Amino acid sequence: MKNPVIVTVTGAAGQISYSLLFRIVSGEMLGADQPMVLKLLEIPPAMEALSGVVMELNDVASPLVTEIVATSEPDEAFKDVEYALLVGSRPRGPGMERKDLIEANAQIFSVQGKSINDNGNANVKVLVVGNPANTNCLIAQRNAPDLNPRQFTAMTRLDHNRAVSQLAEKTGKHVTDVSGVMIWGNHSATQYPDITHATVAGTSATDLVDQDWIESSFIPKVQKRGAEIIAARGSSSAASAANAAVEHMKDWVSGSDERRVSMAVYSDGSYGVEQGLFYSYPCTCAAGDWSIEQDLAVDSFGQQKMSATEKELVEERDAVGHLLP
Ligand code: NAD
Ligand code: LMR
Repeated sequence: MKNPVIVTVTGAAGQISYSLLFRIVSGEMLGADQPMVLKLLEIPPAMEALSGVVMELNDVASPLVTEIVATSEPDEAFKDVEYALLVGSRPRGPGMERKDLIEANAQIFSVQGKSINDNGNANVKVLVVGNPANTNCLIAQRNAPDLNPRQFTAMTRLDHNRAVSQLAEKTGKHVTDVSGVMIWGNHSATQYPDITHATVAGTSATDLVDQDWIESSFIPKVQKRGAEIIAARGSSSAASAANAAVEHMKDWVSGSDERRVSMAVYSDGSYGVEQGLFYSYPCTCAAGDWSIEQDLAVDSFGQQKMSATEKELVEERDAVGHLLP
């Protein structure tokens, strides 16, 4: 057995965590041979509910869990953290866009970014799930000046998986036949789900579906899937979000085996996107690191979509300027 690592999950009494935590302690995220100390952060009114989640985690009797710490103090939760999953924040309700949550949630990520900076392991990997995820990630990163911005990422893996599923369904193939889809930009209704470099069972996806389906069905479906789920379920996606968080962190830590995955990462200016934004790019992961795939051809339709979602991220960034040291 390896030495235990420290994993912190925020919003640990919430809906996503109710799936996520049990997947983490099963070893799906970091491996079946990786023990862990689990630190769970909540706000004071949710501590009683959290104590019930801790009871259930204990009742799993996972051989991988060496200790569980439940706290409402960020500095305690992030002490020596190596893997931080920032889930805790308000979800949107029907009729809202994710950016409507900025005011309610932004402050959380400035406090937590500072606390991770001051208390976390120097090599901590951070995944932001709470919405609006890209901009919350920007806030956390900018409040952590001692850490490399590459240590912060936001989640667009759920959008990626949604795109894979839609394309498989349309072409009558299995999801395992689909590869190479990508999500550009913001985890919002402006994101650009792109299949121009995707294949289905080895055939170019664009030879199998027509442009009208891509523009009027596929793209809006993926962009608005979160709202569709809220309308049907009465609350936002939780188990599929937890699944995406596990896959995101697993690939980042253990590598994506050259598979293309979508991650919102610190923009270095690739594809002409403004440096410093957290923008979803096609990435591959290896040796505990991610890299943006370079030199993929983008047509004029794609270019226009990529600029639109970048513009929204710039607007969100400007709206939280007071939280960006
Ligand atoms: P939820 O309301 O069920 O749970 C959120 C939890 O966070 C609550 O228990 C709340 O007490 C806690 N919390 C609030 N402020 C906190 C703080 N400062 N520190 C620690 N905990 C805090 O919501 P949920 O369904 O679990 O969703 C959580 C977030 O994830 C929402 O913002 C939602 O929109 C977002 N989300 C993102 C994606 C994505 O793909 N990026 C997908 C699904 C949901
Ligand atoms: C999702 O994409 O399902 C989440 O971001 C929740 C939401 O608000 O849509």
